[in-house]
Order: sequence, then structure tokens, then C-alpha cells
Amino acid sequence: MIKSVQLDSIQINYTDAGSGQPVVLLHGFPLDHSMWTPQIAELSKECRIIAPDLRGFGQSTLTLEDAENGVEMHQYAEDVAALLDKIGLKEPVILCGFSMGGYVLWQFALRYPKRVRAVVLCDTRAVADSNEAREGRIKTAEAVMESGLNSLIESMLPKLLSKVTLTQRPEVVSQVTQMMRSCEPAAVAAALRGMAAREDVTGELAKITLPALIIVGSEDVISPPAEMRGMAELLPHVQFVEIPESGHMTTLENPGAVTESLQRFVAEITGG
Ligand code: MLT
Repeated sequence: MIKSVQLDSIQINYTDAGSGQPVVLLHGFPLDHSMWTPQIAELSKECRIIAPDLRGFGQSTLTLEDAENGVEMHQYAEDVAALLDKIGLKEPVILCGFSMGGYVLWQFALRYPKRVRAVVLCDTRAVADSNEAREGRIKTAEAVMESGLNSLIESMLPKLLSKVTLTQRPEVVSQVTQMMRSCEPAAVAAALRGMAAREDVTGELAKITLPALIIVGSEDVISPPAEMRGMAELLPHVQFVEIPESGHMTTLENPGAVTESLQRFVAEITGG
């Protein structure tokens, strides 16, 4: 069920479905919580799923200041903490972050370790942007504000989806395109500036002693399997799952395999 809460100066929309162990799903860029639709449908039969639209995305709002200065990853993490406070959820959650949602997850887990029971890193990275990537993001943020999302969508689609998905699965291409198209340019530009400013957390990974699951699409070119295997070596208690027949958008390109991995992991954590 879609709900909304008012935080200080913004409104956050979120899905809250099912009951039991809370699992928080954080979406990627430039997307919204509906990228988790197949997982929400299945996992909410066994646990409580909370899937927010991060500040500015989906139906959540952003401030004028965010639009001008950008939103850093720790701000999204603070929003998630404020959302959990607002709905009175004190028990530790299983926190699952996809790509940019993973950048937010690092900030949340490092700031609020007691609020997290386990983590799932889905197609994400621990390193910061290279200088070139950072400059590219700032230029893209400016271009998006000036002329809208079309060229960003065109350049991102082949990175988000595998070649087979792009050429043979028009329904997935259309779902991802729609999600991107419905984003507010100001939210997209703000997140680009925030991602450009994010720090490298590689040196912090050893501190995340919680059980961790890494999920990566076998053809992910944004956070490739080899890079995520390197991340796995630094996390003390980790399982690694490579999702076949998928690029970066594992939750939609191979939803069944992602759901199964999450179900297995949640059952292990909860003893279910
Ligand atoms: C995402 O899927 O969230 C983005 O590709 C992350 C990024 O651009 O670094």
C-alpha cells in the first residue's frame, strides 16, 4: 500500500506491505520504488517490506535548496532514518540497496549500525567516482536542467540493461524507460550532484560486520561482477550471488532469481 509521511521540509512516499521482519528496499537512479515491484509482491507474503521513493523521486518531494545544491547520499540515509522514526519502526531492519540505493545503504549502515540486522548490496559500488566521471555527472546535471531527460535516458538504457533485454524484451525496456521519464529533472540533477560528491567507502567495509548478501547481474556494466567480488572480499560475513541473463537492472531483468536470493537470505537471518 502506498503511504506518505511529512518529514521536516519534504514529503516521502513509500510502500509498506506485509508483516514480520522489516526489509527496507532502496531504489537506484534515476528510478523509484517500483523497480522492486516483483520483489515486493513475493517478499511481502513473508515479511514487512518498506520501499521508499527517495527525496525527489517517484511521488516524494525535494526542496528548492536540494534542487540548487544537490542531495548527498547521507541526506537520503537521514531521510530513511526519519521515515522509520515517523512510522515508529525501532526494530533492526534488513537493508537492501540497489546501485545508488547501495550508496545510501553504506551511509545508513555506518551511521546507524544498531538499526540494521543485515545488508543486501544489489548491483552497487563502494568506490567514489573518478574525476572524469564526477565532471561528467556535473555536466549531465546541467544538461538535464537545461534540456530535460531525453539524452540521459538514451545514454543510460544501454548501461542499465543487457543487450538481450534491450533487443528482445520490449516490456522491460518500456518499464525502465517510463520510470526514468517520470522523474523530475531537478531530482535527477540533485542526485547526480550528490553521487558526484560521494566518498569512497572501501576502507569502511570491514566495519560492516553484519551478515551481507551481494547480488549482481552477470552482464552488469555499471557495477560489474568482478568489482563486486572485490567488495565481497572486504565484507566479513558475505554471500555472493551472480544473477544470470541480466544487466544492471537485476530486479526487473531476472526478477525471479533476485526474489529467490532475497527470500533465502531473509529466511537464514530470521531462522524462518
Ligand atoms: C544507479 O543505477 O543507481 C546508477 O547507475 C548509479 C550510478 O550512476 O552510479
